[in-house]
Formats: sequence, structure tokens, C-alpha cells
Amino acid sequence: MERLDVPVVSYNARTAAFMAGEGFALAADGVYRDAAGRSYAAVLTGKPAPGSAVKTWGCQMNEADSEALLGQLRQMGYGVSDGDDRADIILLNTCAVRGTAAEHALGEVGRLRRLKTERPDVLLGVCGCLTQMPETVAYLRQHAPHVDLVFGTNNLDDLPSLLRRAYRDEAQTVDVWAQSPATVEDLPAARAAGVRAWVNVIYGCDKYCTYCIVPTTRGRERSRRPGDVVAEVRRLAAAGYREVTLLGQNVNSYGHDLGAGYDFADLLADVAQVDGIRWIRYTTSHPRDFTPRMVEVVAAHPQICEHFHLPVQSGSDRVLRWMNRGYTRAQYLDLVHHVRRLVPGASITTDIIVGFPRETEDDFRATLDLVAEVGFDNAFTFQYSPRAGTPAARWEDPVPPEVKHQRLERLNAVQYAESRRHNEALVGTAAEVLVEGPSRKDPAVFTARTRTNRLVLVPAVEGAGGRFGRARLTAAQTWTLHGEIEALDEETPGAPRAG
Ligand code: 5AD
Ligand code: SF4
Repeated sequence: MERLDVPVVSYNARTAAFMAGEGFALAADGVYRDAAGRSYAAVLTGKPAPGSAVKTWGCQMNEADSEALLGQLRQMGYGVSDGDDRADIILLNTCAVRGTAAEHALGEVGRLRRLKTERPDVLLGVCGCLTQMPETVAYLRQHAPHVDLVFGTNNLDDLPSLLRRAYRDEAQTVDVWAQSPATVEDLPAARAAGVRAWVNVIYGCDKYCTYCIVPTTRGRERSRRPGDVVAEVRRLAAAGYREVTLLGQNVNSYGHDLGAGYDFADLLADVAQVDGIRWIRYTTSHPRDFTPRMVEVVAAHPQICEHFHLPVQSGSDRVLRWMNRGYTRAQYLDLVHHVRRLVPGASITTDIIVGFPRETEDDFRATLDLVAEVGFDNAFTFQYSPRAGTPAARWEDPVPPEVKHQRLERLNAVQYAESRRHNEALVGTAAEVLVEGPSRKDPAVFTARTRTNRLVLVPAVEGAGGRFGRARLTAAQTWTLHGEIEALDEETPGAPRAG
């Protein structure tokens, strides 16, 4: 494997130097202020207490990126607005993985045109995976002049200087990089409330699945140094966090680019040594790089949750080859059997694409057959969506859209029944859970997660948010379980806000 020598840069050191040039220094309240005590944001906007809003589409990597955007905004002195109508800066962090995700984000850009007419001083920025695609940049230039700032995934850690340019320039400021010039450490993440935290371990993807836009939107694979990851997890534990999710487009290829013979199994084992972290999760996995040793490490450490998300994409060897997945159906099944043997009670979930170009009824049946054979606890199922710039988007595709749609419905019917069956089998048992807090729909109901990442709805218990406990599972649906909290662990929620 070719080694990429990407320099490691400290966000704090780089930003302090930039801010010093602008006449700002980090004050005791963690905000960059000038000699007169005005925050950087106040000087940029001309308002004493400007507010911000960040909207996020897409995967956990994007959510983690949005926490980094909010963390930078906070350091500049922006508050968090309650809804974008009141925000002085709005950032849209977009996803490009399928056409629908892209349309949602561009729809929002269109909707905000009115707000910009009513409040021209609002700064509107668009970033994320979609802006890494040249056609999006061309579209925004031509059709969305009300967007002030366009930047990408590879320079989202440069927000202070991007904003200075965007506020100064009359025209739309566009700055998108195809690759990341550096791996940036100690970004100030404004993490969501609770005891769970995302931790990036590897950025980018080198797998080049033929349907996938991610290598374009996220660049080459770059692993963070093991010591930096472990130090961040230690800081999180000290700040009161109890669950970490190690993030990457393909966490299983972690370390390959570092050339030190240290891989994801080693990282998992080292993170499991950190005191205070009770649950460790990781996403997303690529079956091709999921080594038997990684399964052994999961089996050996009770902190690492027994949930394996193993995106299979198809059950047909022909389609897997066309997709450039690098494993066969038999190799995938071997991995599943290895997991089942070593980690009893493990939950196995997957991602599946139907209607890949030239997928025949027989190919599709091979997928249905694999789904029945594995008995996935859950699956995210998608209809193939051509993405400009990917190889598969150029291929002839005789499969009519209605056939693809029917295949998706047929697959869903099988998988939904299977998901429900798995959940029903748990009714009457008790499960260790982490209580999250009030559900979005009903404050009288709290959400909780099992180690296997199942959602459990429980009657609200005061003070339970952010605590581990045991839930008795009383009823099952396809996506959720219902239950009651039987016991809560003694530990009171930490006070996580740092990091
Ligand atoms: N069309 C449909 N689904 C896709 N995915 C990725 N690219 C596409 C595409 N072009 C799905 C894969 C992946 C998940 C995150 O999104 O199943 O695992
Ligand atoms: Fe969407 Fe993929 Fe980007 Fe995540 S990495 S935001 S899923 S395009």
C-alpha cells in the first residue's frame, strides 16, 4: 500500500496564529476576542451576539463534521439559534450518497432564497459531500447566487478564514479541495448533549466501489495516529462520556496508510483499555477488510458492543464483482459464521442495494436468498441511484425503474418480517441499555439503546437520561422495542461539554 504522507496539523496552533494576525486571541471563556473584548463573530457580523444554525444530512461522519463546524462557530463567538429564521449564519452540511439526499439539500438551498431576500445580512454557506462534486458547485454558482459561501469536506476545519473571506467578498466565495492537505487534530467539537461521542479514526475511502461517490467526496484514506485517537478517547472519558463510536468510511482499513503494522484490531484493543468508557461502537465496516482478528478482539473485550454492521450490498457474485466489492458471497458468509461462532448473541445488520445496472431477477433472488440465510437483525435497503462521476453511472442499464422499485419492496417485505421476528424473540427478556432521554415525539417516552443498537421506548424516568441500566422488554415492532426500566446504574450522568 502506497503511503500518503499527509502532515498532521494542530487546529489550535493554526487558528491561534491566524487569529493573532486578525488581532484576536482566545479569551478565558473559550471565545476569540479582540483587545476591546469583542468576539470574532461580533466583528464579522457587526452584531453583539450573533447566532448560528447548522443543518445536517447523511451519515455519522457528516454529523461529526457538523459538531466540528458548531465547535468552531462557538469559538468564534456565535451562539446557537433556535431555528434558522433567527440565525445570522446558516450552514447546510450536505450528503451526496444518493439522488434523494442531494435533492433534499438543494431543495433547502432553494427554500432559503426567501429568507435571504428578507434578511440579506444572513450568511448562507453550503458544504459537505455534495459540494465536492463539480456539478454542484457549477449549479450553485449559476442558480443560487444567494449562497454566500461554498466549501467542502476537506477544508471544513478552516472555517474562521473561510468566513472572513465570505463576509468581505461581494461575490459567492467558493473554496473546495479535492484532497485534504492535512490531518487536523484537536478540532473543537460541540458535541450533542449526552454521554455518547463520535471519534473520527480514518477519513476518506480508497475502495472505489463502482456505485459510490464517497471516494470523490471524501478523498483518499487518511488514518489519525493511534496516540491521537486514544488521547481523545481518554479526554472524553475524563469529561464524562461513556460511549464512543469510532468513525470512518471504512474503519477496517484503519492504519494501512500509516505503514506501522498497526491496524483496526490494535486500535480497538487500545481504546478498550481506556478507563471510564463502557461501550465502544464503530462504523462503517467493509467486509473485505474485516479480519478474523478484529472479530477476536471484539469477542475478547466486553466494552466493544456485539453489533456487527457488515454492508453486503448484494448476494450475487456477478453483481459483487461489478460493484468492485472485493469479496464473494461465500467469503461474506464465512465472516458471518466467524462472528456467530466467536460472539454469541451478536446482532448482524447490513446495507443492500437493489437494481444495480444489469442486475437480473436471478441476481436479485441470490440477494433474497442470502438475506434468508444470514437472517439479518436489520438492513438498510436502497434502490440503486446513479451518481455522476462513478463508473456504474456510465454503464448501460436495461432494468426498468419500476422493476427496481418492485425488487426493493420485495426485499423489504422479507427483511421487515425478519427484523420483527428478531425483536419479538427478545420480548420477555431484559437488556442492558443506555438511556438517551425524551423521545422526539413524546416527552413522556424516553429512548434507550441496547448494546446491539436496538431502539427501546420506555416510560420517562426522571434523571435517567445519560445513564446505563436494565430494561425489561415488553413488546416488539419492526424497528423498535417497548420496555420498562427495571434498574439504573448508580453513576450519575457526567457533565460532558468539553472536547
Ligand atoms: N445508490 C444506492 N445506494 C447507495 N449506497 C451508496 N451508494 C449508493 C448508490 N449510488 C448505499 C450503500 C452504502 C450506504 C451507505 O448507501 O448501501 O452502504
Ligand atoms: Fe453522504 Fe457518504 Fe458523504 Fe456520508 S460520506 S455524507 S453518506 S455522501
